[in-house]
Amino acid sequence: MPAWLRDAIFYEIYPQSFYDTNGDGIGDIEGIIRKLDYVRDLGCNALWINPCFDSPFKDAGYDVRDYEKVAPRYGTNDDLYRLFDEAHKKNIHVLLDLVPGHTSEEHQWFRESKKAEKNEYSDRYVWTNCWIQGIAGHPYIGGEADRDGCYMLNFFKCQPALNYGFLNRTQDWQLSPDDPACIATREAMKDVMRFWLDHGCDGFRVDMADSLVKDDDENKSATGAIWKNIREMLDNDYPEAAIISEWSNPSQALKSGFHADFYLDHHGNGYNTLLRDYETAGGDHSFLKKDGKGDIMRFLNDYLPKYDDTKDDGYISFITCNHDTPRPRRTLDMDELKLAIAMFLTLPGVPFIYYGDEIGMRYLDIPTKEGGYTRTGTRTPMQWDNGANKGFSTAPAGKLYLPTDPSDDAPTVADQVKDPSSLLSTVKALTHLRKSYDDLKADSPFAVVYAEEKEYPFVYRRGTLYIAINPSDQKASVSLSKKHEKIFEIGTATINEASLMMEPQSFVILK
Ligand code: NOJ
Repeated sequence: MPAWLRDAIFYEIYPQSFYDTNGDGIGDIEGIIRKLDYVRDLGCNALWINPCFDSPFKDAGYDVRDYEKVAPRYGTNDDLYRLFDEAHKKNIHVLLDLVPGHTSEEHQWFRESKKAEKNEYSDRYVWTNCWIQGIAGHPYIGGEADRDGCYMLNFFKCQPALNYGFLNRTQDWQLSPDDPACIATREAMKDVMRFWLDHGCDGFRVDMADSLVKDDDENKSATGAIWKNIREMLDNDYPEAAIISEWSNPSQALKSGFHADFYLDHHGNGYNTLLRDYETAGGDHSFLKKDGKGDIMRFLNDYLPKYDDTKDDGYISFITCNHDTPRPRRTLDMDELKLAIAMFLTLPGVPFIYYGDEIGMRYLDIPTKEGGYTRTGTRTPMQWDNGANKGFSTAPAGKLYLPTDPSDDAPTVADQVKDPSSLLSTVKALTHLRKSYDDLKADSPFAVVYAEEKEYPFVYRRGTLYIAINPSDQKASVSLSKKHEKIFEIGTATINEASLMMEPQSFVILK
């Protein structure tokens, strides 16, 4: 386990929309370099950058055409190497986004794989052996290649599935995960990882990490075996490199070698019940909504077994949001957001802040771009100040990658940095606390102190610290076993002897 993860607070950057330094309307690597001080001052010490590789951008870069080349619209490989260097000087680690399950249909491997003549890449992707034979239970394309066969998709039509084999084989064209061609796919992906690690990157967020071996068993053990093999390579050759999975099944992911796994917004799971409970009958019952009539037990019943099962293996990552999910501001107001981020930054594991959530950027209702669909509204330019294009770019507004928030009260860094009660200032105070107290580190012990169905507050312990949150619009109180001292608060909480009285929408850390 790389030691730095224990202290890590990640900042996710969607490079298209972070900061444009050459006035072409789209963010670039140089823009990230120039904003490293901002990231550091926010209290984040690690970055996850969404794919910044050469791509036709039919899925915003998750359709990689060349794994080892920075997309010209973001700059050059040298710019990215410089970003690693400059970030390291400020003690910031940098994760790239590894997309191991598929490439773009324009990747050279796929161009070769499509050819009628057998070649080194014929089995790099999943193909049937007859133009008229499809793939039951999986999306596939026929009629597009000279080759006599149909190929499998991993996501969109532009993303053919790389071949890591099938565990349960029913067709003669399905290869075993041990087949040399499938091993070659895995080794090629290791080469990609080595390429970036050798140039100074600190690891990878791994896209659709559970998708490698097809028709795997319910524990995904064949896919897990690939990740164990990759982890072995990292432990031997790059022991400080981290891999964080988009899997959202920590028991599977962390036991397969990932250092951390995202807790994603899957319908009805514990994470969603905290702030993304859009679809419960009768309205949004998210715990963090003041009028939500939330129930902390819906979260704990899902989270606690996962935490207990994996706390010795790695970390669960809470996210404010990511480039695939509606921004939390879509349903939470600024005060609710403060409490949400306070909770995520004080729970165990490695937290992630999505760019712009620290100022409460809105989810915009805008048309799709680069395969974003409903995700596009979460990917708009970072709002730095109140100047043209919110300080994101000097391009004419019509040339921006995506529009900025048109509202008069669009939140900006410039406004919030001066205001000690702003969301940004609150986030900074919290990241600072997380750094100052060992008890708030990723692996410090976590225990529930008070949690009752449909009751407030929720009280938990991290090491010797007690943390209480009352997101509701009603007062709440709880008795404590001893008199504590407050070290941080949002809203107002008062300690009377051994009881804690919490005003509506308050959060407190006690020692
Ligand atoms: C998950 C990524 O987060 C998403 O943005 C992408 O579209 C799919 N994987 C396909 O790579």
